[in-house]
Amino acid sequence: MRVHVTVNGAQMTADDVWPGESLLYVLRERLGLPGAKNACEQGECGSCTVYLDGVPVCACLVAAGQAEGREVRTVEGLASGAGELDAVQEAFVECGAVQCGFCTPGLIVQAHSLIAAHDGVPPDAEIREHLAGNLCRCTGYEKILDAVRLAARRKAGQ
Ligand code: FES
Ligand code: FES
Repeated sequence: MRVHVTVNGAQMTADDVWPGESLLYVLRERLGLPGAKNACEQGECGSCTVYLDGVPVCACLVAAGQAEGREVRTVEGLASGAGELDAVQEAFVECGAVQCGFCTPGLIVQAHSLIAAHDGVPPDAEIREHLAGNLCRCTGYEKILDAVRLAARRKAGQ
């Protein structure tokens, strides 16, 4: 089957998509966007998180056909066209919140969605809850929390 999807603002088409194929597979293997990671393929780790019509989802749990005609934004689409990192991406680098990096794209998209919905810095409990579906086996999470707080502070102009 053929799937049409808008990805990071560009209209894209994937051909020969098998009905059981995931959006994650289409993004990575057919559209050349390896940012969203494939770690568990079961909705357990959050490493494949992308926006689907503005809502963060596990791309491994979305059938490619469900994305027909919809808008996807991946971690690649958070940076500006000029190659400037998004504030959340920048904060992850600055705070040392990236080690092996496998969880990072999903965490960044998820954190981005939290910060976008907030005017100030979310309470720690809310940050933890929002990121609870994103697993990291390297960092111990403290630096990730630092990065989210830093990005939120900057967005709030503090
Ligand atoms: S790869 Fe999708 S949740 Fe783990
Ligand atoms: S940095 Fe390695 S899993 Fe998070």
